[in-house]
Amino acid sequence: MKPKDLKNRIVLVKGDITEYPADVIVNAANSSLLGGSGVDGAIHRKGGREITEDCMKIRDSQGKCNVGEAVITRAGNMPFKNVIHTVGPVWQSGKNNETKLFAERLLKKAYISSLELAEKNKLKNISFPNISTGVYRFPKDLAAKTAINAVVEYLEKSDFIEKVNFVCFENENFEIYRKLLEEKGIL
Ligand code: APR
Repeated sequence: MKPKDLKNRIVLVKGDITEYPADVIVNAANSSLLGGSGVDGAIHRKGGREITEDCMKIRDSQGKCNVGEAVITRAGNMPFKNVIHTVGPVWQSGKNNETKLFAERLLKKAYISSLELAEKNKLKNISFPNISTGVYRFPKDLAAKTAINAVVEYLEKSDFIEKVNFVCFENENFEIYRKLLEEKGIL
């Protein structure tokens, strides 16, 4: 796929994922699905009880959400059709290369699982935060490369998803994404 086609399907945004229009927003959750800080805290706070209720139901039926997996809930008080909760890997700094490669593969899986779940639920416009780059301490540049490559690979295989919004809360991530997307001719 030529970068120009991807130009219309990948958007870079600086801001709060709960404030940017989309069909579905992705939450950087933890395996318990019971909320947390960061974007998880923001989504549960803004979405309210409905999201927690749905997460509890999922917990009761399937148990925890494994790293790299994704589940879907209603969006509660937020103006989205759904929220997709995925769990990114925690960065084990100083571990050997194999562990780092494994973490990269799990981070890619979190993006792919979320895109597959969005498509399965007929959701064409999806927003991602910078998964694992906060509390989970994943290096921002490696996380950005992994995220962009995962999304480009998926969009090249399937034309169902119309728009993927990378929503960067912090300037550092925004600049990293901007540079990488420009290098790919997408921005
Ligand atoms: N909109 C978009 N991005 C946000 C928002 C927001 N409202 N709030 C925070 N972020 C960004 C952070 O700045 C960071 O770049 O989301 C990115 C991911 O950071 P975290 O939210 O800390 O997520 P993560 O690193 O994946 O760690 C997940 O943190 O909150 C807990 O319960 C969560 O245990 C889980 C862990």
